Amino acid sequence: MKFVLGGNWKLQINTIEDTITTLRDMTSKFGTQQIDGVEIFLALPFTLLSLAKEELKGSTIQLAAQNVASTEKGAYTGEVSVESLVELDVEYVLVGHSERRIIFGEKGPELNKKMKLLLEHNLKPVYCVGETAQQRQSGLFDEVISQQLAEGFEGITEDALSEIIIAYEPVWAINNPELNPGIEIQAATPEQAIDAHKFIRSWFVTNYSDDAASRLIIQYGGSMKPSNAETLLSQSDINGGLIGGASLRSETLGPIVDIAVKLLS
Ligand code: 13P
Repeated sequence: MKFVLGGNWKLQINTIEDTITTLRDMTSKFGTQQIDGVEIFLALPFTLLSLAKEELKGSTIQLAAQNVASTEKGAYTGEVSVESLVELDVEYVLVGHSERRIIFGEKGPELNKKMKLLLEHNLKPVYCVGETAQQRQSGLFDEVISQQLAEGFEGITEDALSEIIIAYEPVWAINNPELNPGIEIQAATPEQAIDAHKFIRSWFVTNYSDDAASRLIIQYGGSMKPSNAETLLSQSDINGGLIGGASLRSETLGPIVDIAVKLLS
């Protein structure tokens, strides 16, 4: 068994000083020794990746980006190229986070281009899927998730699957009031998460193979914190977490790492 724990800093830690303080604190607490079976990455804002590359030298914490341009090069104002991420020793790149899909209008075909571009450059996509509260209430869970997967994985070979992580992040569980107006935000129950993860894995059985599906890392994301991480991570279909708010401080990320280590022992 293996866990991949990813921190998504979003636009929450934005200065050099705060980044240095936070990374030094985290590396000293859980980033110096290789932990068998647990991988940790942090997805920082683009402008802080260069600094983080230096700070994380010699650490086991890996660097991730929150997005990438869908085109390699050209007249695309405001975009960040895959080549730049390669130079910065980025390992993982989030693709299609709900905040990108819903707030910035990113669509399936563009996300598919990003997936292919990242794979061509040996970067690992973390492909995010998730339904809104309204879609769930309307019984559209299967349809929404299947469509997001079909769009993202169009033309992607089975060989590439070992380089890709799926993050299941129900939109209604993401601690973001802008995505969830008028909704009480709370993490999925273990039962809800298990059902969703099983559904996602079965999609890969149908569209790829039993073998590829069983090896796939599927992270759960949405209000994961020390108090609920153990029940979520102890489910066999949940292979890690994509963690927002709780990844901003060692005091909350550290205990989640400890839980993963404990579950492996
Ligand atoms: P929270 O853990 O803050 O709910 O964020 C989840 C998320 O969106 C991670 O990508």
